[in-house]
Amino acid sequence: MNVILPKLHTVSNNQQTRNKISILAISGSLRANSSNNAVIATAATLVAGEVDFIIYEGLGSLPHFDDSDDPAPEVIAFRKLLGAADGVFICTPEYAFGVPGSLKNALDWTVSTGEFVNKPVALITAATGGDKAHASLKLTLTALSARVLEETTLLISFIRSKMNTNCEVTDNETIQAIKNIMDTFIRDINQQN
Ligand SMILES: Cc1cc2nc3c(=O)[nH]c(=O)nc-3n(C[C@H](O)[C@H](O)[C@H](O)COP(=O)(O)O)c2cc1C
Repeated sequence: MNVILPKLHTVSNNQQTRNKISILAISGSLRANSSNNAVIATAATLVAGEVDFIIYEGLGSLPHFDDSDDPAPEVIAFRKLLGAADGVFICTPEYAFGVPGSLKNALDWTVSTGEFVNKPVALITAATGGDKAHASLKLTLTALSARVLEETTLLISFIRSKMNTNCEVTDNETIQAIKNIMDTFIRDINQQN
């Protein structure tokens, strides 16, 4: 069987990082020049050297959820990555007053296998408004029994006004808020381990 590995981007991956906690980052956006990818890039820079920060880039390759007992290799690989991560960082936009379908689809693949049960999760919703997707995703994470602290969730509204034309987050207050979330998240994961 050919195993198709999901696309990954490991920000810090040298020998010294072996004992570091690992955070799997998932963007809910598949758009080019995604603002949520920019938020993830900012977070990656802020925690560089401190944790193994792995960016999952396989969301668009996951098949539609069908509850199969024999799922595609992409699904198996996704579940393995979630299982191996000490924490999961989800950063998502809001589309049409809801969570992007591709992200919800990915989460649905974990309902029966339970990778999110007690898993520390940090959540940032970066959108124009975003409050509806933010609330909806929190509810979904509750259904998955994930560990979501209020202090590790953040709604960034008007995200586009907080970025430059190179698709980088430039607003200092926003960068500080992302840093606070990541610091609290890492502290909580360390306390759990
Ligand atoms: C198809 C589409 C639907 C959108 N619907 C909403 C919405 O319902 N609420 C909202 O706050 N923003 C909405 N937006 C704006 C996005 O939240 C905003 O552009 C955000 O930066 C997109 O994130 P991304 O660049 O990571 O994809 C929508 C954008 C698109 C492309």
